[in-house]
Amino acid sequence: MARRIVVVGSINTDLVANVEHFPSPGETVICRSFTTFGGGKGANQAIAAARLGAPVMLLGAVGSDAYGGDRLVDLIQSGVDTSAVSRQHGIPSGIALIQVNASAENTITIVPGANWTITPEQLDRELPRILRSDDLLCCQAELPLETITRALEIAGRIGAVRVLNVAPVISGVRGLVPLADILIVNEVEAADLTGVLDVGPESAGRITEVLSRLGSAIVIITLGANGAYVRSPDFAGLVPSPPVPVVDTTGAGDAFIGAFMAWLAEGQPVEQAVRAGVAAGALAVQVPGAQNSLPAREALTAFLRRVSAIQDF
Ligand code: RIB
Repeated sequence: MARRIVVVGSINTDLVANVEHFPSPGETVICRSFTTFGGGKGANQAIAAARLGAPVMLLGAVGSDAYGGDRLVDLIQSGVDTSAVSRQHGIPSGIALIQVNASAENTITIVPGANWTITPEQLDRELPRILRSDDLLCCQAELPLETITRALEIAGRIGAVRVLNVAPVISGVRGLVPLADILIVNEVEAADLTGVLDVGPESAGRITEVLSRLGSAIVIITLGANGAYVRSPDFAGLVPSPPVPVVDTTGAGDAFIGAFMAWLAEGQPVEQAVRAGVAAGALAVQVPGAQNSLPAREALTAFLRRVSAIQDF
């Protein structure tokens, strides 16, 4: 029986404009296509793990607008327990304004809305009732800093495994790293946290060592097309990504984290969990949108079988 994953995190609606190039300050560009997707790092990671068969609960908030209702439907249809998602009246749901350029890169501006109504006091009331010592608790940095801090503190007291994805790097978030058992960052976030600018496959080993000195037993840096580097007591090394055509990288990191947690929750070794995460990310970048691109279990296991047969994966 898999352990449960409890995500305390954000729920957004992603308004995505595909542009040839990002506008410079003062410039206006015409977008080639516009789409609305379910998003938010908390919801994405919860859905990513649930689509892979993990038992997942999300503690979060949406507003009373139509977006909020749509996001709840997405979560429920993906199998996420939404009993700890509140609906805030008179407050808009979280929005992410996303531009994707012709090279499949993105820029994201977040309007937190209801996500920022979740307070430490609410967690004091709700989280101890919800969280069990054998759960994995997962947080990102799209809720207020003091709320994330409290979630990690409560989880530490209860004895749950604390997974922290420092994304985005908001002011003060470095102070949370010692509260995490498992730290997951991308290249940009690793550079922000350490001040080392050349984050890549060659430097990742050294940088994970620096980050692990802050207190996390497992540190992972996701490296986009280069895969991910993991430092843990059982395994340290680079897990390369299979080469794939890239359409949109939005949500690829969330796909990684969802799959990594789902495998870990099933009791799989860290190395296998990272391989599943890298493969999930490689599938996600081939499809537009965040939640839209998160693979189902059958697709991921078939892909893992295929890539293991053709390379040492
Ligand atoms: O990680 C991708 C996510 O970041 C998007 O879905 C967007 O909502 C922002 O939270």
